Amino acid sequence: MARLLPVALLLLVAAVCAAQSNQAESLLAQKAAITNWAAFSFAAGLVGWDDRTPVCNWTGVECNAAGDVSSLNMSCTPDQPRFCAMRAQGQLVPDLCQLSSITSIKFANHSLSGPLPAEWGGPDACQSLSFLYLNDNKLSGTIPASFGARGSMPNLPVASLGTNSFNGRCPTP
Ligand SMILES: *[C@@H]1O[C@H](CO)[C@@H](O)[C@H](O)[C@H]1NC(C)=O
Ligand SMILES: *[C@@H]1O[C@H](CO)[C@@H](O)[C@H](O)[C@H]1NC(C)=O
Ligand SMILES: *[C@@H]1O[C@H](CO)[C@@H](O)[C@H](O)[C@H]1NC(C)=O
Repeated sequence: MARLLPVALLLLVAAVCAAQSNQAESLLAQKAAITNWAAFSFAAGLVGWDDRTPVCNWTGVECNAAGDVSSLNMSCTPDQPRFCAMRAQGQLVPDLCQLSSITSIKFANHSLSGPLPAEWGGPDACQSLSFLYLNDNKLSGTIPASFGARGSMPNLPVASLGTNSFNGRCPTP
């Protein structure tokens, strides 16, 4: 028994670290889709956002007690002026909604463009999401039909998507 314990502990550590690196990959995919990341990151004084720093230490990322990513908040608001120093440009990626514990995605008041990823409305995506603030960007296209599907983002009562360039109607369940 005593000799099994360290093995069990190692496996646990390995599992936690694997989960963390998957989460890092999802966030790094979003980083890669921000076309002016270097300038944005420098202007905002971001820490982390590389594979040397634990994901929970990255600026704008918060984790829950279990060490899973629970929020990404890089909105440019009066109380977060660092994120206003330069507007982030680029697109949103499907990977963000593979973060199974993410409750809040806030990336308001930037220059994000392109469509909302249809994958975000998928049955395995963003099941914990309660806040989605993407207002004041340059997003376009239609709100994906998948967002209105049964089981799509079941915990999302609050979505702020105003001041973008969406067209068409919002899907209804
Ligand atoms: C990450 O944050 C924790 C808690 O704030 C701190 O103790 C630790 O030193 C940080 N690690 C790195 C690599 O920045
Ligand atoms: C996150 O975003 C909101 C704006 O929606 C802001 O008021 C809040 O202070 C932000 N910061 C954190 C760490 O949640
Ligand atoms: C957007 O950013 C500007 C500062 O660049 C600020 O004055 C404005 O209040 C922000 N808008 C929102 C909705 O937070």
